[in-house]
Amino acid sequence: MSTKNFDVIVIGGGPGGYIAAIRAAQLGFNVACIDEWKNGKGGPAPGGTCTNVGCIPSKALLQSSEHYEHAGHAFADHGIGLKDLSIDVKKMLARKDGVVKQNNDGILYLFKKNKIAFFHGRGSFVKATEGGYEIAVNDEVLLGKQVVLATGSNARALPGTPFDEEFVLSNDGALRIGEVPAKLGVIGSGVIGLEMGSVWRRLGAEVTVLEGLPTFLGAVDEQIAKEAHKAFTKQGLKIELGVKVGEIAVTGKGAKKGVSVAYTNAKGEAQTLAVDKLIVSIGRVPNTIGLNAEAVGLKLDERGAIVVDDECRTNLPGVWAVGDVVRGPMLAHKAEEEGVAVAERIAGQHGHVNFNTIPWVIYTSPEIAWVGQTEQQLKAAGRAYKAGTFPFLANGRARALGDTTGMVKFLADAATDEILGVHIVGPMASELISEAVVAMEFKASAEDIARICHAHPSLSEATKEAALAVDKRTLNF
Ligand code: FAD
Ligand code: NAI
Repeated sequence: MSTKNFDVIVIGGGPGGYIAAIRAAQLGFNVACIDEWKNGKGGPAPGGTCTNVGCIPSKALLQSSEHYEHAGHAFADHGIGLKDLSIDVKKMLARKDGVVKQNNDGILYLFKKNKIAFFHGRGSFVKATEGGYEIAVNDEVLLGKQVVLATGSNARALPGTPFDEEFVLSNDGALRIGEVPAKLGVIGSGVIGLEMGSVWRRLGAEVTVLEGLPTFLGAVDEQIAKEAHKAFTKQGLKIELGVKVGEIAVTGKGAKKGVSVAYTNAKGEAQTLAVDKLIVSIGRVPNTIGLNAEAVGLKLDERGAIVVDDECRTNLPGVWAVGDVVRGPMLAHKAEEEGVAVAERIAGQHGHVNFNTIPWVIYTSPEIAWVGQTEQQLKAAGRAYKAGTFPFLANGRARALGDTTGMVKFLADAATDEILGVHIVGPMASELISEAVVAMEFKASAEDIARICHAHPSLSEATKEAALAVDKRTLNF
């Protein structure tokens, strides 16, 4: 066995890990990144959950299915006629795999460009030494002065119902369904449930979503969640709230094989849902499998997350942790920001992540995006606020696009007018939210946005108008 020395060893090559590695290399450190994800041929596939079975492939399928839906319905309104519309699911999945591969290859290129030593395999702690930590990978032992853990998360299974990825699917199987199922069940109406449910509904599946909580999208501003619920129901997504899921069984034989889900509905009535495939999307659990955390006494909490302080320091000197494996939202951009901040802290700089301005986006149609606090949070905190909303129905660009569902909503401090939250449901909400993030980062007031010139006709005018609405002076509504 040979030992190789590094200033920084990053374990995990997802958005938290590979970005930490790049930033550390930019800062002049000698960096190694270890990632165990395998592509279909057993080769390296860096990028983690996000690139391989998360953000990227889900958005590829959302795009394909949205094209299909537009071709089937929206095109006719534009006078575009189409005959014999069909979907080749295999081709759609192959395109998605191609997009994933481009991203995997892009990260391998970035490792080379930044002179990062990439190791394909599982990294695990051997022991702490005077000079840092020994990390085993394949047949080698690496010595790192500093270690950044970015080992991500895995899908949570229902107790007693492991994922078989053929009938009971995690996000992984949900992205690989080989043909449009006639009936698809989804447990959990969170982000994955709604995004993946939307993909397969658009392609023709009858989709039923069973949600345990009595409220729909409880973390989202209530007014926005209500509007989204209305839109999804109109599209034909069946969402049952307040259910209690019971036994889940794979039933039937051969082509008739499917899944039956016993549950109690909100009225307490016993029900059974029979579907061809079932996606279970009830949250994710931090992943420290294989790290051999015990060898060095790394502290985990009761959920299995690595315990860190506000600056991503673990209980071990020189060991940091970022992304899904620590507290906070499980989002790729949050992982990336933490990765950058940690590399900068290792270099003695003042890396910073503003947790109050991390945007959320749900890539359904309409898209849902928000930053900052919801109206219900402000009420609960007893904070005096003003609200302003503007519907896309009154926005010229949205009308031209033929996509007028939804609104932009501003929440601002009643006394100072500082923006406290911005919530959007509607077209391109994922892009529009950036303006609000920038504004909040600079502690702007609603009046600041209201006085900025926005291009016409553009969806962003709805943002300006919602800011004007805070002061009850919308111009176009
Ligand atoms: P991960 O991306 O999970 O990467 C961890 C990596 O570490 C993996 O490659 C893993 O194999 C590797 N690893 C673990 N242990 C070891 C070890 N001991 N040795 C070597 N390697 C190891 N977030 C968004 O912001 N936007 C989205 O649109 C979005 N869409 C999503 C869609 C789906 C279906 C899912 C499931 C998630 C989505 N997310 C999205 C969440 C996002 O994927 C995660 O927040 C993000 O990937 C977390 O990054 P990470 O670097 O912490 O961990
Ligand atoms: P989630 O936390 O978003 O939603 C899980 C849902 O399942 C909740 O509504 C919860 O009440 C419900 N639930 C939990 N247990 C249940 C049970 N036994 N029966 C019925 N319902 C139950 O989790 P999800 O959708 O699995 O996604 C995991 C995470 O991945 C997200 O929270 C997010 O951090 C990330 N993600 C982000 C995306 C994005 O940014 N666009 C897209 C997809 C995932």
